[in-house]
Amino acid sequence: MSHVPPTTTNSGAPVASDAHALSVGSDGPIVLHDHYLVEKLAQFNRERVPERVVHAKGGGAFGTLRVTNDVSAYTRAALFQPGVETEMLARFSSVAGELGSPDTWRDPRGFALKFYTSEGNYDLVGNNTPVFFIRDGIKFPDFIHSQKRLPGSHLRDNDMQWDFWSLSPETAHQVTWLMGDRGLPSSWRHMDGFGSHTYQWINAAGERFWVKYHFKTQQGIKNLTADEASQLAGSDADVHIRDLYEHIEAGDFPRWTLSVQVMPYEDAKAYRFNPFDLTKVWPHADYPLIEVGVMELNRNPENYFAQIEQATFAPSNFVPGIAASPDKMLLARIFSYADAHRYRVGTNHAQLPVNAPKSPVHSYSKDGAARYTFASAQTPVYAPNSVGGPAADPARATDGSWESDGEMTRSAAALHAEDDDWGQAGTLYREVFDDAARARFLDTITGHVGGVKSDEIRERAVQYWTNVDAGLGIALRANLEGAPVETGTPATSAVPVA
Ligand code: HEM
Repeated sequence: MSHVPPTTTNSGAPVASDAHALSVGSDGPIVLHDHYLVEKLAQFNRERVPERVVHAKGGGAFGTLRVTNDVSAYTRAALFQPGVETEMLARFSSVAGELGSPDTWRDPRGFALKFYTSEGNYDLVGNNTPVFFIRDGIKFPDFIHSQKRLPGSHLRDNDMQWDFWSLSPETAHQVTWLMGDRGLPSSWRHMDGFGSHTYQWINAAGERFWVKYHFKTQQGIKNLTADEASQLAGSDADVHIRDLYEHIEAGDFPRWTLSVQVMPYEDAKAYRFNPFDLTKVWPHADYPLIEVGVMELNRNPENYFAQIEQATFAPSNFVPGIAASPDKMLLARIFSYADAHRYRVGTNHAQLPVNAPKSPVHSYSKDGAARYTFASAQTPVYAPNSVGGPAADPARATDGSWESDGEMTRSAAALHAEDDDWGQAGTLYREVFDDAARARFLDTITGHVGGVKSDEIRERAVQYWTNVDAGLGIALRANLEGAPVETGTPATSAVPVA
């Protein structure tokens, strides 16, 4: 028999048996001082940490970002300088489903990235869609409650979903994405990723720019049909985890081309819509894509729990040369994630190997549960000090700032000519979808809205889609009434529900 190491307790002492608890005689009662039995059972009871409140089901892999272009005119961030290669981690996820839910339910997909840069970790926590359902973080808990489960029956509920959506017209653009073909990606490798928000880049001269990130899949976009997705939900609920893992194991490394749209700082004030509104895309005709580099995923995790479940991605993890913008959603997220991590993984989550930066940490935070790294006893634990402790850099005081004034308020005034809720949703439906995609889209929303029990909410949902496109509203109403019609608008093709 080949030599195997001895089993030990968590403290490293050899143990006598993994088969028999210590008992009084071989048939007798077990004894409390079998501390190894107690350790095994107690550790087992604590194997789970709370699942993520959203994006619970997911998978991920490690890789690299290689910069292929020179964008140093826009940012001084070390990871985006020409030729730089940075180690990174990606985690993909669905949003509303719980840990064991099928990978193929219709949902946006998370596209969370952690770059271990030479200046600290940069996290870009995006989705596979360039927009989002809401534009103010104060609505996020209500939005998510409406997409998850009823408090009594614990069932998902179309009435809740459409009640929230139809009372929140700013959701129209993202719901159009979601109900379209890209709501069912065939794998994580076959979808694009977006930073979604507008972020700020700052170059070496201190000039500021507004940017949006786009990760274009080199595998090509591929989606599932609704039938394929529901069949896979039953036969292979983990198909997306499997797909990513097996392709990386086989050496077939997925890649994405990273590009950015760059808006000069001053353009934001006079642009035709609020460029910080997360429900809007910037037309490429106004701000074309500028290539930055290539992201490749080439290393599977060795331990899913330690490296993926305990991974913590935070939109507050910026590095010099990259900062926030006035997007209210982004500003709310900057609080939310680090708080979630302190609760879900623990206050010292940033010390776990998967979350720890590859650059040195010199912070004045100390102690807390599961503290792992610490400074030498000679390092002072307070600032300011006169004994050589780390010193903050006042030159960075205005890094990533912008001007802001006005009375404090709770409103979102439409200050730009095109700050409406329906326009870009209608454009997506009429100009980006082709006839076949529009037909599938109508089919999908007919099924969804058809599942609403309340007449009032169903009527509001029909009005919602009428606001997106008048012909679509007519076709949806006819479908719901069981009498499909040809629509008045040439671009809209009505199909009966199968
Ligand atoms: C996960 C909050 C909007 C993408 C999470 C988590 C929270 C959260 C608490 C769980 C974090 C954890 O336990 O590790 C919020 C709030 C939002 C918001 C309050 C609005 C104000 C968004 C938007 C996007 C997004 C707009 C994409 C553009 C993600 C992703 C994850 C996530 C990808 C999973 C990260 C991972 O893989 O660990 N969100 N979210 N969220 N969120 Fe959001």
